[in-house]
Amino acid sequence: MTEIQIFIDKIKNSQNMAVLTGAGVSAASGIPTFRGQAGLWKKYRPEELANPQAFRSHPDIVWEWYAWRRDLIRKVKPNLAHYALVEIEKKIPAFTLITQNIDNLHQLSGSVNVVELHGNIMKSKCIDCNLPTSDNLNLKAGLPYCRSCGGLIRPDVVWFGESLQIDALNKAQTAAMECDLFLSLGTSALVEPAASLPYLAKANGAFLVEINMEETPLSSQTDIFLIGQAEKILSEITHYL
Ligand code: OAD
Repeated sequence: MTEIQIFIDKIKNSQNMAVLTGAGVSAASGIPTFRGQAGLWKKYRPEELANPQAFRSHPDIVWEWYAWRRDLIRKVKPNLAHYALVEIEKKIPAFTLITQNIDNLHQLSGSVNVVELHGNIMKSKCIDCNLPTSDNLNLKAGLPYCRSCGGLIRPDVVWFGESLQIDALNKAQTAAMECDLFLSLGTSALVEPAASLPYLAKANGAFLVEINMEETPLSSQTDIFLIGQAEKILSEITHYL
């Protein structure tokens, strides 16, 4: 059996699968990845913008950067990788999709059990009282402020130096510990605590598969490493499920 055939077999027999996705999954939709050849970080330095101190000092610049990304993300659509994950979710009794992406494309494609580890770029909250806002922000009209406490409204995403939402992290860790099959998909597997999830799954007996365009620090630890585009490999696999 080829490695792809073994993976298909594992999916068919899985009772509980967890998938960790990263920016590579949205690359085919036209959203640049953070790292790698065409990485966003070559043009911008988000670590300078995506942190609470930067936001308090220069909220206008940080909001401008997020408004640009929101506009980009509003225009793009899910790709074959997102849709393949929807098909896989339908076949497996328990399935958890853990994503580091903040672009909402998994939900848009129809995935149901999605855990957003790094938040959602379309959501906003108060930087002081944390109250979420559903206001349709008109950023061109000036900086947005909280209706309740008057604090600045910020994007509801996890920034450098901030902790993940505890509920999301708990769900992700439980899924990793309980699954029999874990797939790391289109992520550089560098950013903690997400990067530890595949190891947690493996330590608890899961079969570990990775799909990426290039080797990552995780690749040598996997049971199967499939090199290539997520959208191509996964859409091929769904034909056999
Ligand atoms: P990265 O940009 O670090 O990694 C993207 C990975 O996707 C790379 O390993 C690429 O080789 C791979 N890749 C690119 N195109 C692909 C394709 N079509 N199919 C398969 N793989 C492909 O993105 P993440 O791992 O998601 O966090 O980055 C993790 C976190 O780092 C982000 O969520 C962000 C950043 O700091 C926060 O902003 C908190």
